[in-house]
Amino acid sequence: MKTLVTGAAGFIGSHLVDELIDQGHEVVGIDSFDDFYEKSTKMANIESAQHQPRFKFVEGSIHDQFLDELLDNIEVIFHLAGQPGVSASWGNAFNCYLLNNVDSTKTLLQGARERGIRRFVYASSSSVYASPKCIEPLSPYGVTKLAGEHLCALYEKRYGVSAVSLRYFSIYGPRQRPDMLFARAMTCVSEQQPLVIYGNGRQSRDFAYVSDIVKATISAGLSEELPSSAIDIGSGSAVSVLDALNLLEGICGVRFDLQFDADGTSGPSESMADTSAAISALGWRSSTSMTDGLQRQYEDHLASHLHRRPLQ
Ligand SMILES: NC(=O)c1ccc[n+]([C@@H]2O[C@H](COP(=O)([O-])OP(=O)(O)OC[C@H]3O[C@@H](n4cnc5c(N)ncnc54)[C@H](O)[C@@H]3O)[C@@H](O)[C@H]2O)c1
Repeated sequence: MKTLVTGAAGFIGSHLVDELIDQGHEVVGIDSFDDFYEKSTKMANIESAQHQPRFKFVEGSIHDQFLDELLDNIEVIFHLAGQPGVSASWGNAFNCYLLNNVDSTKTLLQGARERGIRRFVYASSSSVYASPKCIEPLSPYGVTKLAGEHLCALYEKRYGVSAVSLRYFSIYGPRQRPDMLFARAMTCVSEQQPLVIYGNGRQSRDFAYVSDIVKATISAGLSEELPSSAIDIGSGSAVSVLDALNLLEGICGVRFDLQFDADGTSGPSESMADTSAAISALGWRSSTSMTDGLQRQYEDHLASHLHRRPLQ
């Protein structure tokens, strides 16, 4: 099957590309290499995919002029491109959030509608929730992700575009974005720096391993019937930030020097996926333990950190 992955060089997008190629699908990937973090990191994410004949990469942003090239013979769109970052969305760059989370979603949905594309999978976020089951974004980022969901629902209702929104919770694993908790913690270990925690660290999060959620994403794209309009994608269990870091300390063999930023944007006090729709509609549940997943992320971190260090 010929598929499009937007945000193909990002953390989750690059894992999705690798898995789709492994499963024998043809993949067109697009990424604008936005400056949220380093281009070299993103290029490394797709380094192995670039050698695969079933992968074609387009560098650029999702705009109308790209659509003919991007959507030619595409059957499934996996729309993962987006502007992440809860804290930064409060700042001056809100236009980027509107452009990359809302405008690009509308552009692609319109393209999907005009070309009769079989399925549109949208990477939404647990940031649409204020607490489990309560849809009420607590950040401008969450507002833009929810707007994307509404656009999907609108195109489904009005034009029959088969669109599903996947609400990813806190995803971790190799290639995790450098602004995310475990990636920051591992960098602090390597650079012997204090680790800043937003809030008091007692907020709970649903951490899910990237390879697991990639499987859920593919399943949502390939299922015969539209599985549902919006599905939580997470492990279904919640761990406090402090407990998760405690586990990571055991894996890294260090004690973190924690510094608490009480004013920092810590998000909801509790966040946990309701996995019932993922189980019933996708036949999916996460299977990687946090110990195994964090161990793999740490090994990947050590390998890439060593690789980047200049020779003495
Ligand atoms: N990582 C998580 O835990 C998490 C949780 C919830 C939701 N999400 C969503 O999943 C998606 C992927 O997240 P990620 O963590 O891999 O982020 P990421 O920043 O690593 O990847 C996103 C990629 O999209 C690209 N991009 C941004 N705007 C673009 C545009 N207009 N055109 C083309 N490319 C563009 C960026 O350059 C980047 O490489 C995002 O939509 C994010 O909102 C992620």
